[in-house]
Amino acid sequence: MKVLLVGGGGREHALAWKMAGSPRLGTLLAAPGNPGIARHARCVPIKDDAIEDLLDLARREGVDLTVVGPELPLSLGLADRFRAAGLPVLGPSASAARIESSKVFAKELMARHGVPTARFAVFRDVGRARAFCREIGAPLVVKADGLAGGKGVIVCQTLAEADRALSACLEERRFGPAGLTVVVEEFLRGEEASLFVLTDGRDAISLGVAQDHKTVYDGDQGPNTGGMGAYAPTPLLPSAAADEVMAAVVRPVLSAMAAEGAPYAGILFVGLMLTDGGPRVIEFNCRFGDPEAQALLPLLDEDCLALFEATASGTGLPARLRWAPAVSVCVVMASAGYPGGHGRGRAIDGVEAAEGLPGVRVFQAGTALREGRLVTAGGRVLGVQATGADLAGAIAAAYAGVDRIRFEGAHYRRDIGRRAQVRVGRG
Ligand code: AMP
Ligand code: GLY
Repeated sequence: MKVLLVGGGGREHALAWKMAGSPRLGTLLAAPGNPGIARHARCVPIKDDAIEDLLDLARREGVDLTVVGPELPLSLGLADRFRAAGLPVLGPSASAARIESSKVFAKELMARHGVPTARFAVFRDVGRARAFCREIGAPLVVKADGLAGGKGVIVCQTLAEADRALSACLEERRFGPAGLTVVVEEFLRGEEASLFVLTDGRDAISLGVAQDHKTVYDGDQGPNTGGMGAYAPTPLLPSAAADEVMAAVVRPVLSAMAAEGAPYAGILFVGLMLTDGGPRVIEFNCRFGDPEAQALLPLLDEDCLALFEATASGTGLPARLRWAPAVSVCVVMASAGYPGGHGRGRAIDGVEAAEGLPGVRVFQAGTALREGRLVTAGGRVLGVQATGADLAGAIAAAYAGVDRIRFEGAHYRRDIGRRAQVRVGRG
């Protein structure tokens, strides 16, 4: 088969690597790809949001399947355009992608169908929003309705912070139209976990559970990032509990979306808070997680292309997937300044040395080639992944990989996976 992969980050490198292992793969194209993806694919310099250019490419190349990594092209209607042109695609329609691109849509859907989530209300008016904040009390969370580049969720420890967040969205219009409607919701306490689901709109199977590490510094300190590292599986949500989430959250949401005329097909990301009262949905995303995909895909003991093709064409999914009985850890190495502004063009050394270690893979995210040399080109630069027989072994191997790699200003968390170790240790 000829496959087009849309995107160019670490998640897409992991997808490219995994698809390259499929006996079904003939040619892999990637747009725009990156130097890591280029080991498995022919990269074409088309941006992930240039839908018409991507459609031209897929037609011209006679692509059999398009796999979409990021949310932006899906929310812009890539899957609709491709399907209308008779081209199979793994990813939801723009209408179904509202589960990520509109927090109001997602919250109201959950409320209508009794899906456990934080108590909330929706506002366009600052005065009413402030009154609701006083009703629920701080801490609380203010969320811009639309896509805001991962910055639209503001956790407020005090009512004064909540007032500032509401002004930023509704009065200063800091997030543009995406922030003119806000969700205000109660703050949930607990550990977070990311559950992934593969669905053709009818059948749905778990694609595994991982735990991400959102903040930039060790011990969950500092500002939120796209994710600084992940491990899988996580003892925080064992498979029986994940099955319960499939029954209480995923199936009702998928049936509701089908019934409401926006059937969801593709990969669904369920962001959960594991509270004392049970799992609650924090958010849905219409795609795989980054870096969760880099942690999960090396454990998946299946031909992922066969699964993606079956999902895209609706020919039925297996009841369960096979997984390697191992643990996987992915540590993200980031550029100086990330998650704020960051430099680029710093020479990267040691990737091959890291990849020479047993069980270690390096997924490239923000990298580029300059005069034949691998250099930094983004905030999150590399994901150093290792598979081990147990968590301690996987952590040790991933950090042995990290130790081999150098670039100026590199920073990373030193505690990826440690919380699960503490939990397991406590029994
Ligand atoms: P999101 O951009 O929706 O992924 O949210 C970013 C992060 O904000 C989440 O990963 C949580 O850490 C935090 N968050 C969002 N909603 C809540 C909530 N209701 N209670 C506590 N933390 C939250
Ligand atoms: N790692 C979280 C995300 O992909 O949104």
